[in-house]
Amino acid sequence: MIQVSDLTMEYGQEGAPLRVLDNLNFSMQRGDTVAIVGPSGSGKTTLMQLLAALEQPTHGKIELDQQALSGLSVDELADFRRDNMGIVFQSFHLIDSLTALANAALPLDIAGKANASQRAKDMLERVGLAHRISHYPQQLSGGEQQRVAIARALVHEPRLILADEPTGNLDENTGNRVADLLFDLHAQSNATLVLVTHDMRLAQRCKRLFWLESGKLRVEDNSELSA
Ligand SMILES: Nc1ncnc2c1ncn2[C@@H]1O[C@H](COP(=O)(O)OP(=O)(O)OP(=O)(O)O)[C@@H](O)[C@H]1O
Ligand SMILES: [Mg+2]
Repeated sequence: MIQVSDLTMEYGQEGAPLRVLDNLNFSMQRGDTVAIVGPSGSGKTTLMQLLAALEQPTHGKIELDQQALSGLSVDELADFRRDNMGIVFQSFHLIDSLTALANAALPLDIAGKANASQRAKDMLERVGLAHRISHYPQQLSGGEQQRVAIARALVHEPRLILADEPTGNLDENTGNRVADLLFDLHAQSNATLVLVTHDMRLAQRCKRLFWLESGKLRVEDNSELSA
């Protein structure tokens, strides 16, 4: 489903560019669950942003279902992302002027889907926020904002779920509940789930572990361990 070839990402100017990702090659299948792990600054968020086509790589190619992301215009990319991806950012990127409900309904509203409000409400209920649907982001705790962001990312049942530290701001119980939700939804939809985490217990629930360090990737198959 996802094919990544010779992916290199450098930041900075000519002379001494900072090479964050160094010639990565990997693929992910439909239904895969992948945890990207590695030290702070190892390029996990960078890799997620490339997979989401929010950044362009310095070299290399990313294909999603045979579609090269670099072959799409900015508008086509926006449509492609809207139709196929659910993205949970490390910083939540909620819209301040919209309630929790309106934020969660946004992907359905933009796509002109019926029952947007009801579906968003159901999803907020599943992340434990039924009692906060009328709150605006600044009236929510960090963990609550994160759960709204997760509800928004999943509400339109995307085939690729990208989640950057989805439980990073949550207490253990809430974090477990959010993780259960991600894996439940993944199981129901047969989407590809890619998450970044520093929590090895969460990482171990994924079929594969992608270890990033010094620009290189080491893939560990975990399928016999995970449920
Ligand atoms: N826009 C940018 N311009 C220059 N350097 C950048 C930029 N974005 C990230 N970097 C650098 O690239 C490296 C990787 O950053 P990235 O955010 O991908 O790390 P990470 O693995 O997600 O870390 P963390 O676990 O702390 O979230 C860091 O050294 C960072 O300083
Ligand atoms: Mg990061």
